Amino acid sequence: MASILVCKPLNMISEEAGQEGEHSLKRALGVLNLVALGIGAIIGAGIFVLTGSAAAQYAGPAIVVSFIVAGVGCVFAGLCYAEFASLIPIAGSAYTYGYATLGELFAWIIGWDLILEYAFGAATVASGWSANVILLLQKLNLSLPPEIMATPGTLLVRYNGLWQPATSIPATVDATALPHATAAFNLVAFLAIALITTILVIGIQESATLNTIIVFVKVGTVIVFIAIAASYVLGHPDVAAANWHPFIPPNAGEFGKYGWSGIGRGAAVIFFAYIGFDAVSTAAQEARNPQKDMPVGILGSLAICTLLYILTAGLLTGVVNYKLLNVAAPVAMGMEATGIQWGQYLVLVGSIFGLSTVMLVMLLGQSRVFFSMSRDGLLPEWAGRVHPRFRTPYISSITVGIFVAVFAALIPIGILGELVSIGTLLAFVIVCAGVWVLRRRRPDLPRPFQTPLVPLVPILGIGISLLLMASLPGDTWLRLIVWLAIGLVIYFGYGRRHSRVAVATAKPARRK
Ligand code: ALA
Repeated sequence: MASILVCKPLNMISEEAGQEGEHSLKRALGVLNLVALGIGAIIGAGIFVLTGSAAAQYAGPAIVVSFIVAGVGCVFAGLCYAEFASLIPIAGSAYTYGYATLGELFAWIIGWDLILEYAFGAATVASGWSANVILLLQKLNLSLPPEIMATPGTLLVRYNGLWQPATSIPATVDATALPHATAAFNLVAFLAIALITTILVIGIQESATLNTIIVFVKVGTVIVFIAIAASYVLGHPDVAAANWHPFIPPNAGEFGKYGWSGIGRGAAVIFFAYIGFDAVSTAAQEARNPQKDMPVGILGSLAICTLLYILTAGLLTGVVNYKLLNVAAPVAMGMEATGIQWGQYLVLVGSIFGLSTVMLVMLLGQSRVFFSMSRDGLLPEWAGRVHPRFRTPYISSITVGIFVAVFAALIPIGILGELVSIGTLLAFVIVCAGVWVLRRRRPDLPRPFQTPLVPLVPILGIGISLLLMASLPGDTWLRLIVWLAIGLVIYFGYGRRHSRVAVATAKPARRK
């Protein structure tokens, strides 16, 4: 029994982190790359897509408060990630932190759980990316056959000259009278993942450089929106005041529909928008100076995005009444409402670029977690094999890419998104608990970055994450449990027998 709770010794972790050579990852990333990696993973479908429906259905103009609540919860978790990332700067992120503190079984659970965040996260965003690309193509009169536009079984109708899901057209329109088709495969999402996987195999430096360029494009898009919307609001204070009133619409008699419970439900939904800052920690082994730069990468990217989100959400609900925002591209709609016609195309193109880096960083994170698990023997050796020329874990990148492309093409975005949120929140809970446990067990360790106010900050991180998890539907919980059960079968069938840490830590005991 002892072997499943064995902790990976920290000196073993540091030795591995210090390894150089053709079988190791390349240390190519500076602080700017790391902050960009975080922003690359964070700004995506959450702000460009979910803000509108969350404001329209749950929080009204008080969606700004939802953004603040979710952001504060993420800051607590981010502070815990920052301590670990500077203390244990190795590619596995939360998986490695769990191994060092809570033992192998927890490490496996967290590693398996991270697949939900990274692999399913990339698949979710690929789905959103495909919807945006198809919308833009159709606006440019380049339509694809509807059968390859969405996941199997999605009913599409042709309305206002555009193929779109039957669920998104106004209730007053009789969908049965419109031309319709049932989709069989989301080809655009599939191809998006295939392309990003190819870039990732070619190299970390190339991937990071591309990411940094695109991050400037998407942050630029958000800043242009903020500037134009702010000038509109200043020029039309009466319109904005009317749209912001009432700031917290009264509860509509149902939990989560406006009022304070609506702010809470809104926070749980737009939590998705913050996911990604932790992905910076998966690149620790590729950072030039991880002890110093990882905390800046994690907390810096989170702080920048929180500020941009609050401004965007606040201004968007000032420009457009929240009741009208339940659309696929709310920020583009906001631009249109300011009267700047080119603005909606800018936002559409910016968000297409923006979502592509979210996929990039998520897939990068996933292959790095597999890399670490394979180095530990919990996954087969091939998953950790590094390409001799590109110095990337190419086999795990390609395997992950194939699975994610298929998930994105076949599983509906709603199911994927909720699994991503619950998986990420579980990882936050374990990381926050891990910081607290390690402080008690090994207070002596040199911590280049210290989470302030331990155990208060980890407790608040755990508490907010659990609250947000509790607000997700029961079938998402069921899927999480089934997923973890499959993981345990694999662990007991393979990982436990091949664990290098169990072997390494058992030997000295036998010699005694
Ligand atoms: N935070 C990322 C997004 O909004 C996952 O797309």
